[in-house]
This record gives sequence, structure tokens and C-alpha cells, in this order.
Amino acid sequence: MSIILGIESSCDETSAAISVNGNIESNVIASQKVHEKYGGVVPELASRAHQQNIVPVIQQALEDAGVEKPQINGIGFTQGPGLLGSLLVGSSFAKGMAIALNIPLLPVHHMKAHILSHFIENPKPEFPFLCLTVSGGHTQIVVVKSYSEMEVIGETLDDAVGEAFDKAARILGLSYPGGPEIDRLAAKGNPHAFEFSRTDVPDLNYSFSGIKTSFLYFIRDKIKTNPNFIAENITDLSASIQNTLVNMLLAKLEVASIKTGINEIAIAGGVSANTMLRSRLNDMAETRRWSIFIPKFEYCTDNAAMIAIAAHYLYCDTAYKGVDEHMLSLTSMARMKF
Ligand code: KG4
Ligand code: ZN
Repeated sequence: MSIILGIESSCDETSAAISVNGNIESNVIASQKVHEKYGGVVPELASRAHQQNIVPVIQQALEDAGVEKPQINGIGFTQGPGLLGSLLVGSSFAKGMAIALNIPLLPVHHMKAHILSHFIENPKPEFPFLCLTVSGGHTQIVVVKSYSEMEVIGETLDDAVGEAFDKAARILGLSYPGGPEIDRLAAKGNPHAFEFSRTDVPDLNYSFSGIKTSFLYFIRDKIKTNPNFIAENITDLSASIQNTLVNMLLAKLEVASIKTGINEIAIAGGVSANTMLRSRLNDMAETRRWSIFIPKFEYCTDNAAMIAIAAHYLYCDTAYKGVDEHMLSLTSMARMKF
């Protein structure tokens, strides 16, 4: 029997989930609205909100799943990467609870958990598969060889694609997080209305800082002659920047599939909620004969279901050695590498 409590607190979502033998029985998410007016996540406010939310969120997850605390076999928590203060709230709580219940503490890598969100429901991908992991902090192409063995074969050299969405949205005066706002407006716009110059980098890597700057300069120039340029073109601007970013993502993913010979393709992370990315991936699946795996919307952005699933596999792993091995150095969490 494996009853796992998963806790996610890496950024601005406090979440708890229960997995029973690898099936998600509850997934409670408290999103922090406090950051909206600042146009981005304020780390100190995020940690404080996690502190307020963590107890009720865990209680709700237990109640929804019909699980009592003594029944839990292990506690999974986001070890990193993420905001240090936010990670500390989740990890300290997880440690305290694991010690009190005398059960294993299961540290989970946030980006690996995004990838393992594909194992929450059926159909599940087969190993090895390629995963494009796209979030507010990461953009990577990963060869997923097993539940634990993953190789990054390409990644952004500067900004993450989610950051590019959020910064473009900010230039357009949209609220945070900007990705969903751009997605919503883009549905009514022409994706080919405007072109922005982009930086190409070698191999399977990405660069998104250049496109952000060229978007900013493009708009600045237009505003000089027409102060209402943004308001008059908001849907076309959103559709065009979204089209550019999605094209960049898929071009490298296509090369990665050819290079590795892997046709089992998944996407994960917050940006995998993007409508255009999802539909273009569907189109590519037909032309390139890919088997594709797109997470449900609720499992795209940060959630504890993916942490509980990742922890479930860790718990089941026979190589698992025991609680003491996982008493981590908290200061290294925010800098964690894949
Ligand atoms: O995975 P996530 O929830 O948190 C991190 O681990 O970073 O990803 C958050 C990112 C934000 O940049 C947000 O704007 C972006 O995912 N995002 C989207 C959409 N929904 C969330 N970007 C584009 N289109 C969306 N529909
Ligand atoms: Zn995430």
C-alpha cells in the first residue's frame, strides 16, 4: 500500500494532494492573488501566503481523499528549484509531519514532477519519451528514460518561455501571470499580423531574451506615431508574439525528435496550458506521426498531484534507503540543478 501526501510550495501556489497506490484521490490548490498588483511574484509575500495556506490546504486534501493522517505512508515535497522562502515553508512542514508520523520524507524535483504529471492518468507515455518542459522558470527538452532517469538535451540559455510570455504581457499592460492573458486575447487575433526578430542559438538550446527586447522596441517605435497602438492592436499583438514563441519551441522539438529518433512526445509545465501550443502539437503529431501527451489543464500549472505521483514512484523505488538520507541541506534547494 502506498498512501502519499504531496506538498507543492515552490512559487505562488500552495498545494496538497493524496495519492493512493499511484491514483490521485485529491488535489487542492490555493493560488495567491496577492502578487497580481505587483506584476510578478513577490518572494516575501509568497512565503507568508504559503504559511497561511499550508495547514488548511493539507487538511482539505486529506478530507477530500477520505484519508486520516496515521494512514499516510510517506510525504513528498518540492525540494526545488523554486523561491527559497516558499520552498522552506513546504519542506519544513513536510519534515515536521514526517518526523511526527515517523514515515519517510520524499524529496521531489519540481521539473521532474511536471514531467511525471503524465503518469497521473491514462494513456501514459512509454519510456523513453521526449518532454518539452515549459514553465515560468524553465524551458527544456528532456529525454525521459525512466521515472527517475532524465537527460536534458536542450534548454534555454537565458529567459524561460513562460517569462517571455509574462514580460510580453507586461509590455502590453496585461495583468500577471501574463501567459493566460495573452492566450485569451490571441484567440481573437491574427498570428501573422506582426513579425519580431528572434535570436537563434545552436543545437537544441533556446534563447528568449532577444525576442522580448525586439517586442519592446517594436512597440515603443509604433507608440511614437500612434499612442493608441497597443489598445488598437492588442489581439493581433498577443497572437503574433504567441505564434513566434510557439514556433520557436516546436522548431527545436522537431529537431530533437529527428536527432533522437523518439516519436513519443510530451509537453509539461505551465506553458503547456497554452492553446496554440497544444493545437500546433496536435497538427505536428499528424504530419510527423508522433504519439503525443498533453496534460489536463489542472496538471499543467503548479500542483501537488504531480508531486504526490513523483513521490509515489520514489517510495516504490527499491533503491529508496530511508528517512535520514533525505534530510537535506535546505540552503542548496533554490540552486538545484536537474
Ligand atoms: O509551471 P508553472 O505554473 O510555474 C513554474 O514552475 O514556473 O508555470 C507558470 C508559467 C507562467 O509564466 C505563466 O504565464 C505560464 O506558465 N502560463 C501560460 C499559460 N498558462 C500559464 N503561458 C502561456 N499560455 C498559457 N495558457
Ligand atoms: Zn512549475
